[in-house]
Amino acid sequence: MSIAVLSVASECAPLVKTGGLADVAGALPAALGAADVDMRVLLPGYPAVIAALERAEVVMAEDDLFGGPARVLDGNAGGLAVMVVEADHLFAREGSIYLGPDGRDWPDNPERFAALSWMAARIGHEGIPGWKPGVVHCHDWQAGLVPDYLAQAGGGAGTLLTIHNIAFNGPFPTDRIDRLRLPRARFTAQGFEYWGHGSALKAGLTLADRITTVSPTYAQELMTPDFGMGLDGVIRERRDVLAGILNGIDEDVWNPATDPLIAPYRTPAGKAANKARLRAETGLPDSDGPLCVVVSRLTGQKGLDLLLAALPRLLARGGQLAVLGSGEPALEDAFRAAAAHPDVAVRIGYDEGLSHRLIAGGDAILVPSRFEPCGLTQLYGLRYGTLPVVALTGGLADTVINASPAAMAKGVATGIQFHPATPEALGAAIDRLCDLWADRKAWARMQKNAMAQPVGWQASARAYAGIYAKIAR
Ligand code: ADP
Ligand code: GLC
Repeated sequence: MSIAVLSVASECAPLVKTGGLADVAGALPAALGAADVDMRVLLPGYPAVIAALERAEVVMAEDDLFGGPARVLDGNAGGLAVMVVEADHLFAREGSIYLGPDGRDWPDNPERFAALSWMAARIGHEGIPGWKPGVVHCHDWQAGLVPDYLAQAGGGAGTLLTIHNIAFNGPFPTDRIDRLRLPRARFTAQGFEYWGHGSALKAGLTLADRITTVSPTYAQELMTPDFGMGLDGVIRERRDVLAGILNGIDEDVWNPATDPLIAPYRTPAGKAANKARLRAETGLPDSDGPLCVVVSRLTGQKGLDLLLAALPRLLARGGQLAVLGSGEPALEDAFRAAAAHPDVAVRIGYDEGLSHRLIAGGDAILVPSRFEPCGLTQLYGLRYGTLPVVALTGGLADTVINASPAAMAKGVATGIQFHPATPEALGAAIDRLCDLWADRKAWARMQKNAMAQPVGWQASARAYAGIYAKIAR
């Protein structure tokens, strides 16, 4: 019998996306459908989500959901079975889903996502007409309060909390505890107290039946002070219920043989046309050196300041760089300045089509992250024969086979890993890349290996289904 699961997320592709969480939330329902899981996604009623909603029915209502009325609508959007928390006082805002016009978090973010969690808990407790989840799958801090609210409601579905990025833990000041409908008795080190504040993620970590994160290596890293960001102690205490399950990618959207956004190709040789087109589009001159690409949020996590420091090395070896990204103003400016060099092209912004053309046309994709729970762009790179050059951390450690002497002798390498995350180590990796580039046979072999590596959801969907089966109620 299939298991019903409510997946609770603050973003979900193709409806609303700022990063990889959206890709994962959007891909899980289909991936898990194949593993006999009946998943619906609960999302905040942002304008874009409401606009996309079809065949919606009102299945739940609340007079006062953190300051105004709310309804839950059950319908379809973007090809997915979704439920939407319609609460205009919280979600009917233009612009970024997390940030106000001043570039800072919306001041009521704790209440906005508490509202999402509150309705998720009600659905987990009561169900809706004709459907009752056995499991509520909570993603990141935005769904961290679900287990608390479910306990208050008297229990119901089992809970799984997935950590996509511990850097965001959903802090709130102590004077909001009552307003957020949380029990003061849980404001302790064993509960949701975090350095004198409350933390929605910590609330979930202490109560969820199971915890996962998005790669096995990040699961280990999270238990260390260097990566746990003050939550490593809680996670160590819960290590018995912790697992690392790798993200997959949507193999239909990211398929070099059928991708409508590029000149489709089936073999490594086929990327030449895309490379020529990419050079024409970005204004890069013809060159015999490797064309390296980056598609990324521009934040400290992604280590792109290391790339700026190591860039002279790449250019000295005849390489080129094409970057698509947006984020911190200082990094945006630094990349704009770097683009003064003729072999560097930079596009500041968010552009789905260009992201495909970069990954299809590049020779290598650079992901020098300081930490990376999973990372998706290195997986796109593998699938498109665009060799990943990655820091040895998190999911980057788990998905790339480094071109070590042993791996090269066996003919199994798929990319290059470097450690530690410093400009020097990245510079050495770039040198290695250029050496390999000069050895066309070795390069072609690596591309072939990369394109053959499984990067889909099959294995991970089975792993999630196995956890759901254990905690379903
Ligand atoms: P994170 O979630 O930390 O940003 P991931 O690698 O998991 O990192 O996911 C990032 C997702 O966002 C990928 O699908 C990537 O292609 C996409 N992305 C990031 N920046 C851009 C951009 N500027 N334009 C288009 N897509 C982008
Ligand atoms: C986060 C992480 C990224 C991961 C994504 C999806 O945004 O930074 O590494 O791939 O979530 O799980």
